[in-house]
Amino acid sequence: MQTVLITGAASGIGRDTAQLFAESGWQCVLVDRNAEALQQLGRSLPPPASAAHVLRTIDLTSQEQIASLGEGTPALDAILNNAGMSDSSNTPLAEQDYAQLERLLALNLAAPAAVVNACAPLLKRGARIVNVASGAGLHAIPWRGAYSPSKAGLIAQTKALAQARPDWCVTVLAPGFVRTELLDGLIQAGRLDPVNAVSKIPLGRMASPAEMAQAHFFLASAGARPLSGQILAVNGGSSIFGGSQRFAPTALAPLPLDLPTGLEVLGGDTMPWEAVAPRPSAEPHYPATLDLSPLYSKPGHVLQAVHAAGSRFSAAHTEKASLTVLLPAGTALPWQDAGDTAAARMLVSTLACEWGARALRINALEVPPNLPPSSLRALLRFVCGPAAQFLTGQSLVCGAE
Ligand code: NAI
Repeated sequence: MQTVLITGAASGIGRDTAQLFAESGWQCVLVDRNAEALQQLGRSLPPPASAAHVLRTIDLTSQEQIASLGEGTPALDAILNNAGMSDSSNTPLAEQDYAQLERLLALNLAAPAAVVNACAPLLKRGARIVNVASGAGLHAIPWRGAYSPSKAGLIAQTKALAQARPDWCVTVLAPGFVRTELLDGLIQAGRLDPVNAVSKIPLGRMASPAEMAQAHFFLASAGARPLSGQILAVNGGSSIFGGSQRFAPTALAPLPLDLPTGLEVLGGDTMPWEAVAPRPSAEPHYPATLDLSPLYSKPGHVLQAVHAAGSRFSAAHTEKASLTVLLPAGTALPWQDAGDTAAARMLVSTLACEWGARALRINALEVPPNLPPSSLRALLRFVCGPAAQFLTGQSLVCGAE
């Protein structure tokens, strides 16, 4: 049995995440300051096979209370630092006193580090730590107090921790808009116009908390190892979009997140990849293509290979499917070819924007030479499959073993 600690578990993304882990047989250590909602959640979850879920009522803005987490908590396979708050006061930053900023920074930036420190002795070998930042950490969102700075800080802290502790797998999830209590609060306070927000998302919709739970579940697994030190931006493509046009709300509902994936592998030496990929299925399935051709293309021809892969895929699928391309990473190129892979990455993002209305997704995995395909099994399953239906336009750099 594996054990996960989830902060901010009592509502929104945290609650759906707890549900998914518990249904999958994990023991959950659920942390929140809302005792009543925590008890209610604890009663609703299926119990683990042995032991029981652990409920901890803790205010994560208090370093003393966080320090107490070390006592009475079982050994952990993963920590999800999910709790966070936004600022719906509408007070301009320069008119806030530092104490107002401090409370938000304490929860969003200081608490994740303090939780890791308090639980470090409990972490099992190869443990996973997932911090929850936001697209707001990548682009400034004004009139939300220190929200953007706190999340930018958390992204940097994640990368630093991944470097400092290569024995752990440390990643940061950057969700886009997710329909949770936090978001509803911003809408009610007039701080967010949902129609305007959706018009900047290539997939034309917000995410459900269940979709973020799936991302958490993958990042908390041992298979997330190749992504240590990286951001996983699950935002419907909003962070890669820089145009001025508006996207229409989609009429396409996502497919069930647990549908089997029917994956076809194309473009090169497919055998070692087919061995790790989910098999094509005659049952109702989520269609997915893994195109290897950019990985095997001649230096300077990666962009061309991605374009050909995109054209093939677009002609073969009308809606609701994914294309994942593999790009070469970490190879020394003459300077004349140095723009090729960057151009290919941006082509992936541009195609994602153009395909969003059809719920066609495209993502790239950058693969260093000699990385065994088997080390990408879980990553491929997640990125290609229906659990990642809000992930598009991203290039993920896979670390060497
Ligand atoms: P939520 O407001 O629905 O849930 C947050 C949970 O954290 C609540 O159960 C709350 O009681 C708990 N919490 C708040 N302050 C606490 C404290 N001082 N001590 C202990 N627990 C505390 O939030 P949501 O939407 O589920 O967000 C989860 C994470 O995702 C946050 O870090 C948020 O910044 C991030 N996020 C959310 C997005 C969204 O659209 N909902 C978008 C991007 C990031």
